[in-house]
Amino acid sequence: MSPMKIGFVLSLALLALVSVAEGGVSFKSLNRTLTVQAKIQASNATSGLAHVGTDHLVISWAFNSSFAGKDADYVNVKIRLCYAPVSQTDRGWRKTKDDLHKDKTCSKGIAKQKYVATGNTTTWRITKDVPGAIYFVRVYAVDALGTQLAFGQTTDKNKTTNLFEIVPISGRHASVDVAAAVFSVFSVGSLMGFLSLEAIKQRKLNGKAGQ
Ligand SMILES: *[C@@H]1O[C@H](CO)[C@@H](O)[C@H](O)[C@H]1NC(C)=O
Ligand SMILES: *[C@@H]1O[C@H](CO)[C@@H](O)[C@H](O)[C@H]1NC(C)=O
Ligand SMILES: *[C@@H]1O[C@H](CO)[C@@H](O)[C@H](O)[C@H]1NC(C)=O
Ligand SMILES: *[C@@H]1O[C@H](CO)[C@@H](O)[C@H](O)[C@H]1NC(C)=O
Ligand SMILES: *[C@@H]1O[C@H](CO)[C@@H](O)[C@H](O)[C@H]1NC(C)=O
Repeated sequence: MSPMKIGFVLSLALLALVSVAEGGVSFKSLNRTLTVQAKIQASNATSGLAHVGTDHLVISWAFNSSFAGKDADYVNVKIRLCYAPVSQTDRGWRKTKDDLHKDKTCSKGIAKQKYVATGNTTTWRITKDVPGAIYFVRVYAVDALGTQLAFGQTTDKNKTTNLFEIVPISGRHASVDVAAAVFSVFSVGSLMGFLSLEAIKQRKLNGKAGQ
């Protein structure tokens, strides 16, 4: 082979390596081995809302001991703020992908801590760049290179329970999101209603034609 051909083959091999390295971990392949809790620490605790700039999230995590002995490779944990499905609707840039390199669900990092089976806590003042939305908290157990090995989160698998709302500086409530989601369900509902009305009309017409 000429040196040029060898160079070409080498760069192809390198490219293949890079693209393999770029493929991320599949979220579905991860076990839920961590327990995670998040509490809002707010000046106005009665409202149940967390305001950026002033309020805090107190996040606690620990290894769930029913998975005894499976945490030998965990080195650190990464604590992240994640959009609930209701705040992802019609927003491609927040989309959930199973490939964690492409996933945009948990784009905001909160903290990184050393992994210990007994767990730890962090108190995070919600930064002003956080958009008003409905959220949950997820914690990834990672190895020394930062590759995800397992996770835990404050919500259930379907991401519908235990969610909380963060209010941005402008005070625009995420209930607008909820309204939008309800509205789109409503539109589908009215479209279906319309279509079935059409079908009934059509059947009546056909019936008449057959008489
Ligand atoms: C998840 O748990 C199962 C059963 O304990 C184990 O066989 C599997 O290797 C674990 N997966 C990962 C990615 O650690
Ligand atoms: C710990 O894991 C077990 C088995 O998956 C699960 O049933 C239990 O709910 C978990 N505990 C917590 C506190 O998440
Ligand atoms: C606290 O929140 C409640 C409920 O949203 C509201 O009625 C009340 O005015 C708030 N208090 C202060 C001091 O902001
Ligand atoms: C908990 O985290 C804090 C800050 O990241 C750290 O200083 C402390 O040593 C940790 N505690 C344990 C038990 O690892
Ligand atoms: C989660 O969502 C799936 C699909 O929408 C549904 O079949 C399942 O019953 C839900 N599970 C829970 C616990 O809500």
